[in-house]
Amino acid sequence: MKKILVTGSLGQIGSELVMHMRNIYGNDNVIATDIRRIEGMPAVESGPFEIVDVLDSKAMAEVAKKHNADTIIHLAALLSAVAEAKPVLAWEINMGGLFNALEVARELNCSFFTPSSIGAFGPSTPKVKTPQDTIQRPQTMYGVTKVSGELLCDYYFKRFGVDTRGVRFPGLISYETLPGGGTTDYAVDIYYEALKNGKYTSFIDKGTFMDMMYMPDALNAIVTLMEADPKKLIHRNAFNITAMSIEPEMVAAEIKKHIPSFEINYDVDPVRQGIANSWPDSIDDSAAREEWGFNAKYDLALMSKDMLEKLRVKLNIK
Ligand code: SER
Repeated sequence: MKKILVTGSLGQIGSELVMHMRNIYGNDNVIATDIRRIEGMPAVESGPFEIVDVLDSKAMAEVAKKHNADTIIHLAALLSAVAEAKPVLAWEINMGGLFNALEVARELNCSFFTPSSIGAFGPSTPKVKTPQDTIQRPQTMYGVTKVSGELLCDYYFKRFGVDTRGVRFPGLISYETLPGGGTTDYAVDIYYEALKNGKYTSFIDKGTFMDMMYMPDALNAIVTLMEADPKKLIHRNAFNITAMSIEPEMVAAEIKKHIPSFEINYDVDPVRQGIANSWPDSIDDSAAREEWGFNAKYDLALMSKDMLEKLRVKLNIK
């Protein structure tokens, strides 16, 4: 990776990945793009930034050519709850954007990364230690676009030789940028509310296990996979990766260690609960460990401590 173009770079992953990669590869070598420009955001201010609508394939190709991109990290997509509310738009953006980005990668001979998700699994998938290769019949539009995306990326590799790689991200937790309408968002909101109000009403029910990961591990995973020796990759799109399998009571108990008066209660959202129920409780990431050395550093305890420390500063709470 020498010249990296990132789509959706002001979103949940992109806003941090751009800064992470600029530290590694140099500010000028990471071209941040998004559908809108938000002045003041570090990804906009610290290096090249271009407005690119991923549905405009010509514009995307022009920007990639202008900057001599050799790698495309395609992040622009709608998350699960929003996709369920707007399924037509989700198909357009998640599949149309991915197709356009893959075509640019094919035309310019770029390496390619795009994230899949635990949402690529469905109710008929084995729920515990979900294998790398297993049944994928999701029942959400988000999941449909993620499975289709995995297949399309495999196709571009096999048919056109595009170096496509991807991971199935679990819920991502970060103190920097808020997720925009996912099912796993409770695990971010809970830290904000713990600090601001000392209590949290969860839209996901107690006992609902889902995989999660702290953002620094997710950023490392993307870079490590993209730098991995292709000869070692048996799988490509997309690797299961996880750092913890948790449910709301476990997060609450961890927060209580730092804020003893913290209280959790529940007002379950049937839509997001239904999505969560259809996803695995825990996924098996041994293929990622074996093929490219994936290894998460943050467990629930480490992550909670860091989240609360960083958010305390960010929210200016004493
Ligand atoms: N965090 C995502 C979501 O909840 C899962 O990929 O939509």
